[in-house]
Amino acid sequence: MIVSNRLPVDRAVSDDGEASWRPSPGGLVAALEPVMRTQDGVWVGWAGVADEHLEPFEIDGIDLIPVPLSEQEVENYYEGFSNDTLWPLYHDVIAPPKFRREWWDAYVAVNQRFADEAARASAHGAAVWVHDYQLQLVPKMLREARPDLVIGFFNHIPFPPYGIYSQLPWRRQIIEGLLGADVIGFQRLADAGNFARAVRRLKGYDTRGPIIEVPIGVDDPTSGSHRHVTRSRQGGLVRTVLAMQFPISIDAHMYEEMASRPEIQERARQIRQDLGNPKTIMLGVDRLDYTKGIGHRLEAFGELLADGSISVDDVTLVQVASPSRERVETYRQLRDEIELTVGRINGDYSSISHTAISYLHHGYPREEMVALYLAADVMLVTALRDGMNLVAKEYVASRVDDDGVLILSEFAGASDELRQALLINPHDIEGLKDAMLRAISMPKRERSRRMRALRKRVLTNDVARWSAAFLDALTRSAHGDHPLQHPLGHESRER
Ligand code: F6P
Repeated sequence: MIVSNRLPVDRAVSDDGEASWRPSPGGLVAALEPVMRTQDGVWVGWAGVADEHLEPFEIDGIDLIPVPLSEQEVENYYEGFSNDTLWPLYHDVIAPPKFRREWWDAYVAVNQRFADEAARASAHGAAVWVHDYQLQLVPKMLREARPDLVIGFFNHIPFPPYGIYSQLPWRRQIIEGLLGADVIGFQRLADAGNFARAVRRLKGYDTRGPIIEVPIGVDDPTSGSHRHVTRSRQGGLVRTVLAMQFPISIDAHMYEEMASRPEIQERARQIRQDLGNPKTIMLGVDRLDYTKGIGHRLEAFGELLADGSISVDDVTLVQVASPSRERVETYRQLRDEIELTVGRINGDYSSISHTAISYLHHGYPREEMVALYLAADVMLVTALRDGMNLVAKEYVASRVDDDGVLILSEFAGASDELRQALLINPHDIEGLKDAMLRAISMPKRERSRRMRALRKRVLTNDVARWSAAFLDALTRSAHGDHPLQHPLGHESRER
């Protein structure tokens, strides 16, 4: 069973009351949907609209159990605590997090509803995999209700350093909530290290590498079960929790297959032509989120046009910015800022025949995205902080021609693996400009060499491998056996 804030589909209701389903936004769904297509499981989550009580249903062979949220809960739990408290806090406080007690109360209540739903719908001894920062209290709630379950949790976003995390007024409750899981997965080794540090500082529990020892109280519901229970070095009874990195990925072969289709390659040629056949197409694809560093990339691009290093006749930037969290004030402000900047750059540098920035505030079907990836000579991933960034991996998987240059922020989790990208610090605008110029003029041989190495990595470490590694750790943990070595072989570097 998967439990996540969003189901893989969102319910869209048009002005005339017509309801339809569309794919949900974001990396979580992109990664989990292929996993669930091959598993016989159930997905518990919210259908993306307020005040709708929907019966369980099936889509593309996946059984879905919708969890309802009221309008007030959407405001306080989803837009408030999840996306205006935790999201900025966990992303290096790029925007200031707001701490509101009524948001926290809603977060607790909604987490309890998700836990109740999962407890009700799972078979005896089932494995339940809870996802992301919106549901960090669910593991403990679920363990209390159903000690027979094996519980995994995966955090798709960064886990912040203690100095930042400790600002959270409810920092202990969140740690306790997560420690209800048997296995806790993070994107990067550094995230797992930050979590272990927070556990030591806030709870005083011992950690041995990725193993956390949670003392068992007399009233602990798991004390009756012998799973994970062992003696600590001090002699007390402890339950062991595995907390380590499992870097997420994509269904790389699906992207490869799509990119090989003649009609998608034709569409890529068409896109190039529609843009006026520039020598270089640069591409950014992001949810319109302040963590993605869209403003930094526009600034660098605008300066290159201003100083004459590039010209609109030769270079075009396509920026897909899919709408996201539009009722949260920080996101509204960001949209205004980005659109003002795009307007200024276009006003200053576009000509009748060539537009500097082709800005698209839409989501697109996967086929169109693959065509865009194929058309793009340079892919810009300039996140200021990002759990993984699956767009970087999608671009690489789509480049069946072994061409294209990936510019990748070292603050995105993907940079741990994609070392042959041009790695940049997005705050260093001069460095970013240099990387853009280097990408534009990179010889074909070097492009191919880098892309081949990147592709090998992405095609090997795909999403099937990721989920198999996590589920293997979870299954082993069900038998009281926690692997100490990382299943994907990403050894301890920064811990
Ligand atoms: O992992 C990042 C994430 O926040 C997911 O949890 C989420 O589903 C996705 O990005 C998109 O965001 P949202 O669900 O708020 O539209």
